[in-house]
Amino acid sequence: MMKHYYSISDHQNFKALVDQGILMQQQIQSYDIIGKNKTLIMLFFSPSLRTRISTHKAGLVLGMHVISMNAGDGYQMEFDFGKVMDGNSAEHIKEAAKVISQFGDIIAIRAFPGLQSKEEDLKDQILQGFMKFATVPIVNLESCLHHPLQGLADAITIESTKKITKPKVVLSWAPHIKALPLAVPISFAQAMNAMQYDFTITHPEGHELPSNLVGNVKIEYDQAKALKDADFVYAKSWSSTLNYGQPNKTSNNWIINEEKMNLTANGKFMHCLPIRRNVVATDGVLDSPNSLIYKQAHNRLFAAQAVIFKLLQQNQPF
Ligand code: CP
Repeated sequence: MMKHYYSISDHQNFKALVDQGILMQQQIQSYDIIGKNKTLIMLFFSPSLRTRISTHKAGLVLGMHVISMNAGDGYQMEFDFGKVMDGNSAEHIKEAAKVISQFGDIIAIRAFPGLQSKEEDLKDQILQGFMKFATVPIVNLESCLHHPLQGLADAITIESTKKITKPKVVLSWAPHIKALPLAVPISFAQAMNAMQYDFTITHPEGHELPSNLVGNVKIEYDQAKALKDADFVYAKSWSSTLNYGQPNKTSNNWIINEEKMNLTANGKFMHCLPIRRNVVATDGVLDSPNSLIYKQAHNRLFAAQAVIFKLLQQNQPF
């Protein structure tokens, strides 16, 4: 039973979701009856290309009505309790979540972290607030801490591409001009743990991900050593956790290039996109036959379909 889809580790049977996604990928049958007369409401407090379009399309494929709203453009929302709301916040999360629940059968929300305060971002207030007060299931479209639809699409990509049962998968930190959220690497680590692959994370010191979220993963600070014989290389930048919110300007040599990919076992390259070419990875890597970036993005559709399908299925009258 899945009440919300907030993070990958919330669910005992993540592998079943991956299998459902692979089934959706094969497009053998039509699923448009299950969502008939149901409404998916999507709230975007932060921008999106892939998540917005793939989740909207997933709703349509399942026969749902879809309403999408830029929630960050309007007034600010209040999350604290007992507060005198005489500042900029015009609506409390309590009213917003309860009211929206009356119009939708599933609410999907994207809300990035501020990357100013680790303590604030660890609270993941917007998603937690909606899960507390909404009366319908919540789907996380990327919050401060989790991007579980991306993690599911990544697992679907590896599971449907791998040549051996337990491939060696390496998540490599990569350079970027800005400090980026931790959500993608956290969800990817949780997905790899759930799939029981041979999983290693490599990153410069100071970028350690919260161990309460990623578990007891293998960390290798020597990138070349980590990449050796890898079947899959996933590049991703994320903020330093030591100097939270500050861009790392000293590790540009962590870019994934052809020379580094040559250390792998003819490994496949992955990235969630959007990607800054020749900063995170070179054109040669992104455009090589071993690059899975477009397949991975396409699988966002099947991941969203699988999750919404499971949420609708458990709410069917019987
Ligand atoms: N990978 C991903 O979430 O892309 P968007 O930010 O475009 O949704």
